[in-house]
Amino acid sequence: MIQQTLVLVKPDGVARGLTGEILKRFERIGLKIVALKLVQVNMDHAKKHYTEDISNRHGEKVRNNLLSFITEGPVVAIIFEGVNAIANVRKIVGSTESASALPGTIRGDYTHVSYSHADEKEMAVKNVIHASADENDAKNELSLWFSIDEICDYKRSDEYHVN
Ligand code: CDP
Ligand code: MG
Repeated sequence: MIQQTLVLVKPDGVARGLTGEILKRFERIGLKIVALKLVQVNMDHAKKHYTEDISNRHGEKVRNNLLSFITEGPVVAIIFEGVNAIANVRKIVGSTESASALPGTIRGDYTHVSYSHADEKEMAVKNVIHASADENDAKNELSLWFSIDEICDYKRSDEYHVN
């Protein structure tokens, strides 16, 4: 099934100069960039992205830390398109916390800070990337971050392997 999914290079990823490295990992498996922009997120937008669902799953404190984090500097927002794009992207992203993120995944290769350390410092776990978790999240996040006219329809030169 051809899907579209949202990826954000979070403020720490942009500030560490990891944008190109991160894009490369998705491009090289064949996923197609159909939208891309650099955005300084405001608090209103941040709250729509990290909704009450975060408080329900992790507590209000984590959500507040996360809202500060995602607004602290620009993020790169990308829509990737491809077969089972949502699950393929999550596999390359890796687990949320570095301790369980396997080497070879983006978080496994570029993060080391634990939940407990971040909690002690009253900050979010800065794990360089966000990716839509499932079809429902992808649907909501695509429309939150991009308008229809920002999404491009074109063919990659290697697409004859797909269609
Ligand atoms: O990003 P992912 O979908 O893997 O995880 P999530 O459960 O949706 O949490 C969103 C983000 O909250 C994570 O990527 C972390 O940056 C942050 N977080 C945190 O700072 N402390 C926690 N205990 C849990 C999540
Ligand atoms: Mg999530």
